[in-house]
Parts: sequence; structure tokens; C-alpha cells
Amino acid sequence: MTRILLIGTGRMAYQLGHAIVASGLDLVGVAGRDVEARERLARFLDRKALDLTRPLPKADLVILAVSDDAIGTVSAALPRTGAVVAHTAGAIGMDLLKDHPDHGVLWPIQSLSHGQPMDMGDVPMVVDANGEVARSVLLMVANKLSEVVLELPLEQRQRVHLAAVLTSNLTVWLVREGQRLLREQKLPTSLLTPLWRSTAARVATFGPDQTLTGPARRGDKETIGHHLELLTKDPELSKVYALLSEQIMKAFAHESR
Ligand SMILES: NC(=O)c1ccc[n+]([C@@H]2O[C@H](COP(=O)([O-])OP(=O)(O)OC[C@H]3O[C@@H](n4cnc5c(N)ncnc54)[C@H](OP(=O)(O)O)[C@@H]3O)[C@@H](O)[C@H]2O)c1
Repeated sequence: MTRILLIGTGRMAYQLGHAIVASGLDLVGVAGRDVEARERLARFLDRKALDLTRPLPKADLVILAVSDDAIGTVSAALPRTGAVVAHTAGAIGMDLLKDHPDHGVLWPIQSLSHGQPMDMGDVPMVVDANGEVARSVLLMVANKLSEVVLELPLEQRQRVHLAAVLTSNLTVWLVREGQRLLREQKLPTSLLTPLWRSTAARVATFGPDQTLTGPARRGDKETIGHHLELLTKDPELSKVYALLSEQIMKAFAHESR
């Protein structure tokens, strides 16, 4: 059986580690630089906690679930054991792993955080590899983790990553700003929860064009003007609001001024 060593103790390591164990793959341990973090994750996964600076157990696949900026350093410090070495970053090339003859990428298209272990069964797993050895190991693991597996080269991964940031991260930032406005009125942030829940569900079912409502979609310029007045003390958010509204009106053929 393919032995997997996971390096990193953050959000990706927590969720991917859980998915690896849950899918019955052989996780030999979790290595990290922070003692407390690696012991906590190892306890949660019921696997060995490993010190990144000490000799590591044998593995066929080493997954670097570390910050994008650390991938090169961690990879360069890893002994060349013949294992396939992969990182988990959507927008990063494979050249950072070039010290290892067989290398690649295993990127789940999902926003991952601590707290609740996630079922990755329908999370798209993107695989990229520098050759057949890494490709077959990574495809095998990806297919164990999820029913949705695809192979994408760097240029496409970067575009998918951009699309994911637009869809998820930037949208969540807007939710955060919306909650801030509620808090300023001493209202519970949960007031908007049914709205964003049903919005996400409708986007998934009917698509964005059918889901989009609101003043810009209707071309209600007076309402938009009133919202912009309410944002006069918040010029940055006002710019974001005006620009997004203009884009929506253009897309739906309303005149924008
Ligand atoms: N979270 C997501 O939603 C998500 C989704 C898709 C892909 N990814 C990718 O997953 C990878 C990890 O992201 P993450 O969200 O798990 O980040 P994270 O929660 O911030 O965790 C980063 C991990 O990297 C470790 N690290 C940073 N610098 C290091 C170094 N020089 N040497 C050793 N370990 C180092 C950190 O250790 P310390 O705690 O000691 O700093 C921590 O364990 C990234 O490549 C990211 O692009 C993340």
C-alpha cells in the first residue's frame, strides 16, 4: 500500500489528513516544525507526530501541506529518498519540487479550515505531475479521496485558482463587510444567514444569472444612489459597491452613469 507522509499542521493538513485516514489510505505520520501543533494534529488523526528536523519514516508519497512561500524551502530540505513529493497549492508551479525526480501537485478545490472535518468525497481534486511515476501515485490517491478528479497544467490551475478566489474568498469578504454594517446597528449578524445560505444553494442549482436580484440587477439607480450616500464615510467600500453595481448593470444591459 502507498505510504503517505504529511508535512504541515495547518488547515490543509488538518482536512487532508482526516480525508486520507477516512479513505483508508496509509498515513505514516504528520511532520511539522511546531511541537504543539504537530502533536495536536497527530492525536486527532491517531498517527505519529514527527519532528521535521529529524529523520522521517519511509514513505512513497510526501505531501507538503505548508504555506505557498515555504514549499521551496521545505522541499529542498527533504532528503532525496525516491518518494513522490507533491504540494497542495492551486496556483504554484512544480519547479519548486525539482530536487525530487518524481513530483507533482494534489490540489483540492475547496476552502479548508480547522474545526469540523470535511467530507471530501465531492471536492474536485486537481492533479498535475512531472511524469508517469508521480502521475499514477497522485491519481490513485486523488481517486481514493474524491469522486471528482481532473488533471490540469499550471496555466489552467492558475485560472481556476483565480476563479475560486473570486467565487469564494472575495464573496466571503463581502459577507464580512455586510456583518460589520449589521454590528454597527447593534443587530445580530445571523439576520443575513438565511439570505446567503439560500443564495449559495440557488447559485448551485440555477446558476448566477437566475439567482442575481437586487437594485443593480433591476437597474434601480435611486436605490443604488441612496446606498452610496450611506457609504460616504466608507469610501473604499463605496468604490467596491459602485464598481460591482456598474458591472452588474452593464451585464444586464442597464445604462450606467
Ligand atoms: N486552506 C485552504 O483553503 C487551502 C485550499 C487549497 C489549497 N491550499 C494550500 O494548502 C497549503 C497550506 O495552506 P493552509 O491553508 O493549510 O495554511 P496554514 O493553515 O497557514 O498552515 C500552513 C502550515 O505551513 C507551515 N509552515 C509555514 N512555513 C513553514 C516552514 N518554513 N517550514 C515548515 N513549515 C512551515 C505552518 O507551520 P507553523 O504553524 O509552524 O507556522 C503550518 O503548519 C498552501 O499551499 C495553500 O495554497 C489551502
